[in-house]
Amino acid sequence: MFMFRSLLGMPVVCGTLLAAAASAQPVGELIAPDIARFHSSDDARQAMVPSFALESPMPAIGGVPGDFPVEVTFGEIEGRFVSSVEIEPGTSLYGTGQAAGDLLRNGRRTEHWNTDAFGYQDDSPLYTSHPWVLAVRDDGSAFGVLADSTHRVFIDLTDGIRFESEGPAHPVIVIDGDSPQEVVTRLGASTGTITMPPKWAIGYHQCRYSYYPDTRVKEIAQGFRDRSIPCDVIWMDIDYMEGFRSFTFDPEKFPDPAELNAWLDERGFANTWMINPGIKNESGYFVYDQGTEIDAWVKTADGETYIGNVWPGNVVFPDYTMAEVREWWGTLYEDYMAMGIDGVWNDMNEPTTFIRDENNEIVEATTFPESNLYRADADLGGPGTHAKYHNVYGMMMIKATREGVMAANPDKRPFVLSRANFMGGHRYGATWTGDNTSNWFHVDTSIPMTLNLGLSGQPFAGPDIGGFIDAGTPEMFARWMGFGVLLPFARGHTQTGNIDKEPWSFGPEVEATSRRAIERRYRLLPYFYTLFEESSRTGMPIARPTFFADPADQRLRDEDDSFLIGSDVLVAVQTDLERTSVHELPIDEHGVPWRAFDFADFDGEGRDSDDPDQPELYLRPGAIVPTGPVIQFVADRPNQQDELTLLVSLDHEGRASGVLYEDAGEGWGYKADEYRRLHYSARTEGDTIVIDTHRLSGAMVLPDRRVTVRVIGDTGELVGSGQAGTTIRIDAGG
Ligand code: GLC
Repeated sequence: MFMFRSLLGMPVVCGTLLAAAASAQPVGELIAPDIARFHSSDDARQAMVPSFALESPMPAIGGVPGDFPVEVTFGEIEGRFVSSVEIEPGTSLYGTGQAAGDLLRNGRRTEHWNTDAFGYQDDSPLYTSHPWVLAVRDDGSAFGVLADSTHRVFIDLTDGIRFESEGPAHPVIVIDGDSPQEVVTRLGASTGTITMPPKWAIGYHQCRYSYYPDTRVKEIAQGFRDRSIPCDVIWMDIDYMEGFRSFTFDPEKFPDPAELNAWLDERGFANTWMINPGIKNESGYFVYDQGTEIDAWVKTADGETYIGNVWPGNVVFPDYTMAEVREWWGTLYEDYMAMGIDGVWNDMNEPTTFIRDENNEIVEATTFPESNLYRADADLGGPGTHAKYHNVYGMMMIKATREGVMAANPDKRPFVLSRANFMGGHRYGATWTGDNTSNWFHVDTSIPMTLNLGLSGQPFAGPDIGGFIDAGTPEMFARWMGFGVLLPFARGHTQTGNIDKEPWSFGPEVEATSRRAIERRYRLLPYFYTLFEESSRTGMPIARPTFFADPADQRLRDEDDSFLIGSDVLVAVQTDLERTSVHELPIDEHGVPWRAFDFADFDGEGRDSDDPDQPELYLRPGAIVPTGPVIQFVADRPNQQDELTLLVSLDHEGRASGVLYEDAGEGWGYKADEYRRLHYSARTEGDTIVIDTHRLSGAMVLPDRRVTVRVIGDTGELVGSGQAGTTIRIDAGG
């Protein structure tokens, strides 16, 4: 039995906090092994509203054990409800979702209120909100703290961990673990995990605001194939629409979207098209008419339909907090997806509304009045104001989108990208880091931003590679491409009116660098896909901070010019022109180094690592990493599984192991065993390295393929090969 401990906290942070009223005695409850939820009072516990962050409600299973290592105190500061946790010296803080700036968040104060943050800077409020902090103690053990509130929250990490919320009392969920990995997987068990994306979504994506007309889209797509630069997805931004009306197509620029999608499909490209929530306020426009018929729109404090202003001019906004509205929104995707649309991009859903001047120029991007009203269903907490539902607007929108896309194409895996989101919203869609700028700050921060999102439950993220705003320089573009394509979501994008930013736009040298970088992504695809599958089961990030290699090693705690792909590949990046990044590499406890590896260059002459804009790649001692051939798109060859190259780095005992997950890349067959998870192991027997395969699970047959093994050593490498499923022996003698 657990000893119940009630936590009586007299918070004294900065000496300015007021203690909670005497009657308000904090209470705690255990909601899963090693996960506790604390409330500021029993009244607050009873008044708790449904959680958006949690995948399903987590009722109490007992009291908090007396030895639970984290205490939460509650109070008030400047009218805000405050929850705080003290930290021991040597504790490193991470998470806080989409935070611009360094990976290590100690000393930072950030505002979490979804914001259209065009050209954001260090610590700006951004597009998504994750009121969550991951704390790694000096000894490498860890805990995470979630302020379970949808209201505007400030996270203050200047003295321990403090959440200041503008809403009513919020519960605080604390996850304890022996390691940060344990905490993030417990977070995944609580807030859910991503579902397997279609495999094309983990290839390279090409976007701009906007490619039009349709002939330009074809030209771009053909540009990739003509130059043999791998690419899987071409994106259609707002200019495809008729007058920026969602679910319409400009009859002149895009007269036949189904034909365009079929044309792309024949050449191996998937497509993704944008849909925005601001619906033009215009009777006769079918989306407006249908929504008006069910009274779908967000209201003002007076109960009138709220009129905002986005791309099409005056707009109304669906109130996605009502199931009826979500269902209707979902039905709009039926005819839309029937045009052969593969993926959907939901944008401007912080939600954003513009203020324009007398010349109709946009002067400010803001959001609704906080007094606006939502008629939320009881299971979401019932009717409430914009102050309460603002931060989950995007999350509820993409939930509706995702359900509509799935209803339209039940046999396909949905791919939804959203700009706004909230803790737990990774269950519905991927995220990118918004409108960044072509400057070195943004090159540098794209790594920690992606990593902290991963540590906050959202593994499927990445920046606009090359930068959305401004031209940048060829050198900057090359460097950004080099590592950007190794982040989980790999998409080049740029603003309307900006210079071209396709991989070939900066001349032959930068084109060659971009091709090398993208080819690396495709070579690593079997490994990436394995990691996406792992993440979909466990919540483990795909791109991980370097300190995950050894959470107790303080040297690695602020290392954010390098990152790990999974646990086995380390990517070390030079994030400035002067190449000043100094990387701390993890130290193997037996002294075996992480070994550098690379690939043969596409030009057939050198190695791809000869290109100084490619990051250095290292392999963990004891790892086997599955890689594939360079292909132009994921379904390039139906027999793609026919070729496999295992990268092996032996540990101090001459051993290594690794996993490969494969399935059809689309559809749900994998849920019915149509996949294979293979375990590779290497051992050293005298002068021979022996590599064996063992099926862990799945019923998909083993293809008749050749397996090449590259054993990466400290100074050179050994190569051998054999048939899949057989034991491969490599002579390491003399
Ligand atoms: C927003 C998006 C950007 C997009 C543009 C036009 O600024 O963040 O990615 O290109 O809108 O739709």
